[in-house]
Amino acid sequence: MKERGPAIVLIGFMGAGKTTVGRALARLTEWPLYDTDDAIAARFGMPVEEIFISRGEEIFREAECESLVNLPAERAIIATGGGIVLRQENIDALRKLGSVTYLAADEETLFARISQSGGRRPLLQTEDPRATLKKLLRVRDPLYRAAANHIVDTTRLNATDAAEAIIAHVG
Ligand code: S3P
Repeated sequence: MKERGPAIVLIGFMGAGKTTVGRALARLTEWPLYDTDDAIAARFGMPVEEIFISRGEEIFREAECESLVNLPAERAIIATGGGIVLRQENIDALRKLGSVTYLAADEETLFARISQSGGRRPLLQTEDPRATLKKLLRVRDPLYRAAANHIVDTTRLNATDAAEAIIAHVG
């Protein structure tokens, strides 16, 4: 039996456009936007990258999991961090809230967007960020695909076009 809420949930790799497409969706639908990274940053009073440095990834992952608890299954846009699919309980929670869209993009595009965005991605602070991205994407792409109800390739789409494609899908 289908027991799925009305939310629109965005998952995908860093640089896939979850935040920008989330904002476009919020504008078009006039629904509130909830961003798990923002909620965690507000809870800790520091940006996500600082949480990774001062508290460690495990604490961040716990907080990420808790950020989904008690979210009401209401009309809302839910943008998530790229690692949300690492825990099955997160996937289960997201699928209950609504329709889950995987924002995909090719590796080149993801890397270019991440490099341009200026924000520091703690997981890519390695000697060879490009190789790290490739490795992480290979592990995660199947997880995003399995978790999603719907996939939108954002490689050649701007945020508004991607948002419109999602709205058309969820009806
Ligand atoms: C992460 C992605 C980040 C943020 C954290 C971990 C990941 O969010 O949650 O740095 O594991 O991929 P974005 O996908 O919005 O960059």
